[in-house]
Amino acid sequence: MSEETPFAVRMQGIVKQFPGVLANDHVDFDLRPGEIHALLGENGAGKSTLMNILSGLYAPNAGEIAIFGKPMRFRSPRDAIKAGIGMVHQHFMLIESHSVTENVILGLATPRFRLRIKQAGETVAKLGEQYGLHIDPETAIWQLSVGEQQRVEIIKALYRGAKILILDEPTAVLTPQEAEELFRILKHMAGAGHAIIFISHKLDEVMQIADRITVLRKGKVVGRRLASETNKKALARLMVGREVLFHLEKAPIQPGKAVLKVENLQADNDKGLPALKGISFEVREGEILGIAGVAGNGQTELGELLTGLRSSKGGRIFVAGHDLTGKAPRDFIDTGVSNIPESRVEDGSVGNLNLVENLMLKGYRQTPGLFLDYRQWWQKSEKLVRAFDVQGASLRTPARLLSGGNLQKLILARELSSQPRLTIAVHPTQGLDIGATESVRKILLQQRAEGKAILLISEDLEEVQALSDRIAVMYEGTIIGIVPPETPREEIGLMMAGTPHKTETQ
Ligand SMILES: Nc1ncnc2c1ncn2[C@@H]1O[C@H](COP(=O)(O)OP(=O)(O)OP(=O)(O)O)[C@@H](O)[C@H]1O
Ligand SMILES: [Mg+2]
Repeated sequence: MSEETPFAVRMQGIVKQFPGVLANDHVDFDLRPGEIHALLGENGAGKSTLMNILSGLYAPNAGEIAIFGKPMRFRSPRDAIKAGIGMVHQHFMLIESHSVTENVILGLATPRFRLRIKQAGETVAKLGEQYGLHIDPETAIWQLSVGEQQRVEIIKALYRGAKILILDEPTAVLTPQEAEELFRILKHMAGAGHAIIFISHKLDEVMQIADRITVLRKGKVVGRRLASETNKKALARLMVGREVLFHLEKAPIQPGKAVLKVENLQADNDKGLPALKGISFEVREGEILGIAGVAGNGQTELGELLTGLRSSKGGRIFVAGHDLTGKAPRDFIDTGVSNIPESRVEDGSVGNLNLVENLMLKGYRQTPGLFLDYRQWWQKSEKLVRAFDVQGASLRTPARLLSGGNLQKLILARELSSQPRLTIAVHPTQGLDIGATESVRKILLQQRAEGKAILLISEDLEEVQALSDRIAVMYEGTIIGIVPPETPREEIGLMMAGTPHKTETQ
């Protein structure tokens, strides 16, 4: 990249003020063709806001944007697309029942749709080949894995002529294998001259994929680095403004009585196919049992069964000696089971309710009397929001306006403050920045030290190994083995692919 390389993107002095929050405070950002540029920052630092401005979704209060040297003023996403900007959002915007090609051309002014679809299909196939985005143009979206759907979003952007691609936390929803595949594709695209902006909280990934890194803190740029001239520790310090531990102390604990007992549990998935084929295990007091596995091997269904959100076809669930088989979510809550669900937006929170109301969602039953003691909840909420460091909002803010990570912290605050006996934690640190990840992991270890039982379902093998006392590996609806956390990663990887382990513990 020579000095004369024209900027693909040049943003200068960008300001975005939301009620009560200065989300972008005079941000300068640039991007060159052929470059992969990572945008880093804590939850609520203003990354998505800046990218929503670049993609024409929000208008800035001040600042200039130039694309390939030309000053731009976007009035809508359509303007940004015309200028060559494509955005892959974290929540895909595809129509499930439509084919890949139909989704790609949807929304484009295409006269004689039927005639065009064949042509479009050929272009989709060609783009796929050119960038290694292997996908069958005629498959319906619902048949695709999450990783494949993401490729459709990328093809959609390329089809519209995107030269600048923005990916907002693209790996948060991918398995490690899918993430590797995505990196291969992104490198290929950068090699072909595209400019790519990549948002992630995972520093290993950022170091692996990015050429350059811009770090935001509380709406301001606090640093710009070449990946070749920095490291994880330095980036973490820039982001958080203090040292961050990458290793956690896990004190040895003698586990107590079984809190959760699962016997021969069987269940179907949403498509009516067997998802759990008779699994049995226990989680004891003072123990974290990790569930590892490639997504789609029954973990989601297991998490739902253990919180009353899905019914079983056979087998039993006992919590602290109570038979909760077939019981409702309320019975699980009343027995002391807390739940950090997989989909925080749909299952974990109510967007239009404010922070206090969201914190009350489950606890209100415990308040005696018909009228809720709102003032008491208000005080409790103030404490929780402080303790769990939920930022960027007042207690009156509706939950939907929180940044991804802060919404997550709010749910954790509610679930972990209810003094649960058993916590079912599904991807508890997904989408969280490193500081928040560190505090969530500490909180889970604290619960363990207090003699609580924790079932940790996570695709992040590093996390499972760091926190668990034992690791159960799921494969095609069964537990293929339970191993100690020191087991080499490659051996757990083999189990995840269906090979039983030789030295099992129970
Ligand atoms: N539409 C909105 N209305 C009001 N406030 C908003 C809106 N969108 C974002 N904010 C606030 O602006 C700040 C920046 O949010 P943004 O989503 O850009 O953060 P982020 O860096 O992407 O965080 P995360 O890593 O959690 O996704 C946050 O405090 C957020 O609550
Ligand atoms: Mg964001």
